[in-house]
Amino acid sequence: MSMTQPILVTGGAGYIGSHTCVALIEAGYAPLVLDNLCNSSVESLARVQRITGVRPGWIEGDIRDAALLEQVLAEHRPRAVIHFAGLKAVGESVQEPLAYYDNNVGGTTILLQAMQRAGLRNIIFSSSATVYGDPATVPIREDFPRSATNPYGRSKLIIEDILDDLQRADPAWRIARLRYFNPVGAHPSGLIGEDPRGIPNNLMPYITQVAVGRLPALQVFGGDWPTPDGTGVRDYIHVMDLAEGHVAALAYLLEAGAGMFTVNLGTGQGVSVLQMVQAFERTSGHQVPYRVVERRAGDIAACWADPARARRLLHWQARRDLDTICADAWRWQQANPRGYA
Ligand SMILES: NC(=O)c1ccc[n+]([C@@H]2O[C@H](COP(=O)([O-])OP(=O)(O)OC[C@H]3O[C@@H](n4cnc5c(N)ncnc54)[C@H](O)[C@@H]3O)[C@@H](O)[C@H]2O)c1
Repeated sequence: MSMTQPILVTGGAGYIGSHTCVALIEAGYAPLVLDNLCNSSVESLARVQRITGVRPGWIEGDIRDAALLEQVLAEHRPRAVIHFAGLKAVGESVQEPLAYYDNNVGGTTILLQAMQRAGLRNIIFSSSATVYGDPATVPIREDFPRSATNPYGRSKLIIEDILDDLQRADPAWRIARLRYFNPVGAHPSGLIGEDPRGIPNNLMPYITQVAVGRLPALQVFGGDWPTPDGTGVRDYIHVMDLAEGHVAALAYLLEAGAGMFTVNLGTGQGVSVLQMVQAFERTSGHQVPYRVVERRAGDIAACWADPARARRLLHWQARRDLDTICADAWRWQQANPRGYA
């Protein structure tokens, strides 16, 4: 592979994208980030440079800008695209469905058209465990039925189907659909991490913001779920494990030849909200006051991955444990109490 050919990383200034840039650089790839900064700060890429010594290529722009994409693909001739760019707030997607379909589905279509015109047919797409809806059983295998209960989830379903149609129409495409479980934690340097705008929707940043004194108490949505301690159970995966999963998927995509594959990126372990609170208190030495409130509409009791296919196909598995997740998330939060601001 020519090292001068970059990997185009859409949404690369964001949470998962910035960590994946670190993993790409460490594996010898050259990331070229395209991001409109609608939910991120370009400071994350300066931090990637501090960690790796390499500054990722940078283009400020929108994936819906077809002319820009045409120019970027012609000028930089990327080897593949890792496509993180998208909106991801479930509640907001219910309020503003059109923004979600425009950005996620419309944006992806424009990106795929530009790639097709440029003769670039290698793409890794950020899908989500949300496409499994409320699974009948756990652990969840990739062949389980898919469904959506909100526009965010439906946008992921639709994009998965578009990619399927595209690969059938033109078998030269190489497509990876990666279904993430719950990404958490931060790079061990404490230099990059999750920096949500407003009150966090997700458990881990909520916990760390309570511990750092930015929020008064954790709200636990439901204490009467059919789980061992009554709180929701999820598969929390360290964001650096997830990032390395992308590097493994890229290597497989580039060497395996044309085709499409779909894999879960998760740990295979279910962890409850209260177990996470306890692990965090243990590793950080800080108390996390919480109160149990009503269930949140659209939430499910339990969700965790069967990670066997990723292990078999990509020779990848998550290796960082819950204590490492908590310690790394806390290091990031303490060093950056206001995020990148
Ligand atoms: N974090 C999770 O829990 C999770 C779980 C499953 C899937 N995903 C998916 O992974 C991807 C990355 O998620 P993340 O957590 O890093 O989110 P993020 O918001 O931190 O990163 C997304 C990035 O995309 C950028 N972006 C959005 N729309 C764009 C556009 N039209 N043009 C250019 N850039 C645009 C944002 O500015 C941001 O930097 C998303 O597609 C998300 O849906 C995330």
